[in-house]
Amino acid sequence: MVSKSKNEYEHKSVLLTESIDGLNIIPNGIYVDGTVGLGGHSEAIVQKLEFGKLFCFDLDKVAIRIAGERLKAYKDKIVLINDDYKNVNRYLVMNGVEEIDGIILDLGISSMQIDDASRGFSYMNDGHLDMRMDVGRDLTAFEVVNSYSYDDLVFLFRTYGEESYANRIAREIVRRREVKKIETTTELSNIICVSYPSKERKKGHPAKKVFQAIRIEVNNELRGLYEFICEIILKLKKGGRGVFITFHSLEDRIVKQALQYLAKDCICDVKTPVCICNKRSELRFVNKKPIIASVEELKMNPRAQSAKLRIIERT
Ligand SMILES: C[S@@+](CC[C@H](N)C(=O)[O-])C[C@H]1O[C@@H](n2cnc3c(N)ncnc32)[C@H](O)[C@@H]1O
Repeated sequence: MVSKSKNEYEHKSVLLTESIDGLNIIPNGIYVDGTVGLGGHSEAIVQKLEFGKLFCFDLDKVAIRIAGERLKAYKDKIVLINDDYKNVNRYLVMNGVEEIDGIILDLGISSMQIDDASRGFSYMNDGHLDMRMDVGRDLTAFEVVNSYSYDDLVFLFRTYGEESYANRIAREIVRRREVKKIETTTELSNIICVSYPSKERKKGHPAKKVFQAIRIEVNNELRGLYEFICEIILKLKKGGRGVFITFHSLEDRIVKQALQYLAKDCICDVKTPVCICNKRSELRFVNKKPIIASVEELKMNPRAQSAKLRIIERT
């Protein structure tokens, strides 16, 4: 495999200043970056640490290698872990950590993953249909496209892509793959484009939603996210901060609902005269509304367009 350094990938961390300010970093604190990517947010965090520690996770071993190179000057302060952030707790326990001072999750995929055609994430670059963040896992986009039933494809495109033309696209995929397996991102993208009504083609690339849906399925992106947020917030020390960046409505809804649940005091039925649930609020929202990228940031990084940042503090 060709080895690229971080400089060869054009990656600008999204909402960097806002998220680092949001973490309110204390120099001796323990922090978790669940999605280290190319290490942009991690670098900004570790620069503020004195005796603190930063645990960095990524499913993608290429990301871990690039982040490791970028952060090598801080190697005493970081622990790089090539695993799912949903397993954070296991590593904290192994390192004797009971509570943390902050967590950042910058969800989705990195520019490196999109821009590297061989990873098969992008409908703009021709590559084998893969889309795995963790290349050790079995399920690839090729498997999904060529082996899921018509009904499963429709369900997938509707559920994870919110795609209105799921039926038409799934029907065309099934028709084409009976003749020849669909192998590349370009083949899939062309099939989606011809399935799309021409009047709809002006509203952004027709393949965007289906590619998102397949990527979410391949990487199991949404499963367990709600539970993870509930679990990790309880690991935060009082005053500790959680910073969450989302890029599409599905993951944003899950993050928002999990945080709103944790922020609630008492979930008893309104008709119950006295609280019997004993649920107490675990956090407060630092910002009432999610923060979005400034006009200046969008000029430099159009990929920040759909980003939403939510910051909470443990109470
Ligand atoms: C948007 S990028 C992060 C960019 C990073 N904040 C930076 O500044 O360079 C998201 C990263 O999260 C990783 N990722 C996504 N889901 C993951 C999961 N469940 N566990 C660990 N890493 C994950 C992806 O492989 C990708 O590298």
